[in-house]
Amino acid sequence: MIPTFVSLQADLFRLPCLICHVPDWQNVKRDFLSSINWDDPDCNLEHFYSDYHRYFTRGEQPPYHMDLMDLLRGPLDFFAQENPGAQVMSSWCQRYSANQMHPVHTHGVIGYSAVFYAQLGRAHKPTCFFSPFPDPWSGFIDEKIPKCEEGDIIFFPSQCLHQSLPHAAAEDRIIFSFNIMQSPESIYV
Ligand SMILES: [Fe+2]
Repeated sequence: MIPTFVSLQADLFRLPCLICHVPDWQNVKRDFLSSINWDDPDCNLEHFYSDYHRYFTRGEQPPYHMDLMDLLRGPLDFFAQENPGAQVMSSWCQRYSANQMHPVHTHGVIGYSAVFYAQLGRAHKPTCFFSPFPDPWSGFIDEKIPKCEEGDIIFFPSQCLHQSLPHAAAEDRIIFSFNIMQSPESIYV
């Protein structure tokens, strides 16, 4: 029986997400990661290594920031085509050893955030994201772990809840992350 009224199926809202691969990463990985000061006592926190408070919260850029932006130039340019005025002020690095994790959090009301998976072996898991709204039938908040591998970068809304699950592999998990805001010129034109 043909329905008398047909409406195009559409989402009222969607959660935008972009995943890109950095093909050069394996060629530069060793040199790039060796430039990080892994022994910095300010970064070796009780629960994992992070230079977030060493640089980012002080409004500074870590020494590798511009090299990271050059490395990620392709994905950043692609993202900027869809998001004019996108601007990255600084970045940070985190390293998780066995059994370390990062609890559920957001990056605030900023715009977008990104995670670059610099070391993510087969036994590692990418970031786990949580739906901003409950499932209509169950009322539960859905979780999703996107299919990312080492050398991938994922862009997601900075307000989206996410976490790094407890790390179960012997090899460290290393990520670089940053927030993306819109330049005032783009917002107010
Ligand atoms: Fe995060």
